[in-house]
Amino acid sequence: MAETADVPARSFPLVGRAPAKCILFGEHAVVHGGPEVLFAVDLYTQVSVRPAEHLSLNGDREPRAHHPYLGPALDRFAPVPPHLEIRTISRIPRAAGLGSSAAFVAALSAALASARGGITRAALAAECFAIERAAQGVGSPGDTSATVAGRWVSLNVGGAEPLWEISDGQRSWPVCRIADPGWSWVIGYSGIPRSTGKAVRAVSERLAAADGASLLERFRSVALRGLDALREVDPEAVGRLMEENHRLLTEVGVSHPRLEALLEAVRPACYGAKLTGAGAGGSIIALPRPGHALEAVRRLTRVGAAAFSVTVAPEGASLLEPPVRTDR
Ligand code: PMV
Repeated sequence: MAETADVPARSFPLVGRAPAKCILFGEHAVVHGGPEVLFAVDLYTQVSVRPAEHLSLNGDREPRAHHPYLGPALDRFAPVPPHLEIRTISRIPRAAGLGSSAAFVAALSAALASARGGITRAALAAECFAIERAAQGVGSPGDTSATVAGRWVSLNVGGAEPLWEISDGQRSWPVCRIADPGWSWVIGYSGIPRSTGKAVRAVSERLAAADGASLLERFRSVALRGLDALREVDPEAVGRLMEENHRLLTEVGVSHPRLEALLEAVRPACYGAKLTGAGAGGSIIALPRPGHALEAVRRLTRVGAAAFSVTVAPEGASLLEPPVRTDR
């Protein structure tokens, strides 16, 4: 494994790092097999891991009880030493629709897999999805694939450059690399945390209703047209399709008055904007017109959002050189 490993074998102490993600088209529908388009964002979570006398996460000595993703990750990579001191540093707001859990899982898994002899990126993506699924119970491998792969990816779209295919035993999601159109983006976090699992279950019920199939077809159509517009590097069309995707997400019940206020505030500076991720709170993504990114950030800040101007993360989950101790 070590020779072909994208994450190489190393010994402790180890530091893993993984980026946030932003969904441009197809969230929720992807859980049911619809196409999704998303990219890794240059906000990162860093996880350092070293053997210790007891297990702790940021000083918490009962972390398995308090952090739903930690236990499944440690179990998945057993036997790593059972007692580890784990510390995180993150620029990704939590429960904000930006993939903070997936980034934590990917950064930690990269470190643990490295201690176990290294891992290929495809195997790491499969492990991270299994861990997230064990913690969350529902969902697609979109977030975990984007944070492991970096740059832009699509799910459930044929014909592109294949990366890997991930299965939960019932459904399979092919994941492909797609080209970066090279634009900057603006994210606005509403400050309202939400649960991905709860939102996914609510939308799944909505999609099981009589008109569910036609709703899914509309999600599919907007994502495929979005992919074409990205390929043609056409920001006007991408912006229009983001708005169309947002209307569909509103129809399935995951918008929120705060998100609508953010969208209204940012639109004059943008080609288009929409909620991103599970919704019901969380964040919006906007495509600013050239030279208007700062204005978009200001507009969002003025209505109380935490706003970030972001670009694509060029690399997915990886190892960093651990800090060298200079005090002895
Ligand atoms: O809000 P997030 O970052 O958890 O994104 C969820 C995306 C969904 O499509 C709603 C669920 C999923 O697992 O794909």
